[in-house]
Amino acid sequence: MNLKNFYSVNAIFGEGTIEHLQKIEKNHIAILMGGKSQQSVVDAITDKFDKLGKEWRIVGNIKREPHMEDIEKPLKEVIDFKPDCILAIGGGSVMDSAKAIWIFYEYPNLKWDDVILPNPVPKLGNKAILIAIPTTSGTGSETSSCAVVVDKKKMEKKLIISQNILPTLAILDTQLACTMPKHVAANSGMDAFTHALESATSNMNNSIVQRISLVTLLDIFKYLPTSINGAKDSKEFKEAREKIHIASYLAGIAINNAGTGLAHIFDQVGPKLNIPHGLTCAILLPYTIEFTEEHPFYLELAKVLGYKEEKGYARFLAQKIIELNKSVGIPPSFSEMGIGEKEYLEAMKEDIETSINSGGLQFAAKVPTYEDAEKFMLKAYYGK
Ligand SMILES: [Fe+2]
Repeated sequence: MNLKNFYSVNAIFGEGTIEHLQKIEKNHIAILMGGKSQQSVVDAITDKFDKLGKEWRIVGNIKREPHMEDIEKPLKEVIDFKPDCILAIGGGSVMDSAKAIWIFYEYPNLKWDDVILPNPVPKLGNKAILIAIPTTSGTGSETSSCAVVVDKKKMEKKLIISQNILPTLAILDTQLACTMPKHVAANSGMDAFTHALESATSNMNNSIVQRISLVTLLDIFKYLPTSINGAKDSKEFKEAREKIHIASYLAGIAINNAGTGLAHIFDQVGPKLNIPHGLTCAILLPYTIEFTEEHPFYLELAKVLGYKEEKGYARFLAQKIIELNKSVGIPPSFSEMGIGEKEYLEAMKEDIETSINSGGLQFAAKVPTYEDAEKFMLKAYYGK
């Protein structure tokens, strides 16, 4: 068993927990947010800050998976404003951006190359704390030691990984999860699903991660369809959104302790073809499972889902995931979502070369050759 430390983040959760922000003993608050859909939440928070005499400034809006240059403007605002608290309100892109801003605010002399994997990040928190408030349910960035940024020149994702970029506090207000548009909820929910399954089968897995992942996966199987297709103000819909918000946080804890797997390693076609991260993972996952084929955790999960045989369980699970994808509007292949064959094949070739050399494969349950990767990437395109 590979169990040394177990990392988690200080978190507050439940309906209306955003109110806790009034109690934080910080008075100079920089707010990084996503698009307009979060404006009403930010307005409610800043009204309260005004009443309490706290100074605040919105330092930027992050509206896509962050490219390195997207960080520059909000970072300048932060350096000018000198906050004692950085508040990230939004999805994974906002939280990941806030982590990068936090690093360069605390250490202005550092450059991207100094902190991109495998380089370390120094201890943060001398100037500010970071509070993460997810408004989507999937990335788990509020509880992970990872930030993903896109290098525009190469259209490749780059990773910063360090326990030092874990947010100081995560606030999981389940009410916020109810405002997510359906397609965002579907993509991010399947991102969480991929986190849970891949962390449980990575070479870094341990028994705590596997227990967390099993419950998380079963909750996503059970509640994700209602969280997308349920009537908006119904009790069932609210309950489903709440369950998926917590599942996302738990899956984030799982990847923070065990890393991810092949769907995440080979997801570079996403930034190249402008496909959201969660959607890329959702489509790749069944085919990477079929390639990995044998893993005791696959068998355990398949049996809980009703599979009776001792063989063929990877294919059974892959089919279950394709069905789950379908139930939330995610197609079984990149061709069905309308990606052109020529552009996919070009992106795929670059993706395989980059991914095989990325170092991430050391954690995969089964390591593919170039030809193996080509096979499952082609299946993900054609659906067979
Ligand atoms: Fe992910």
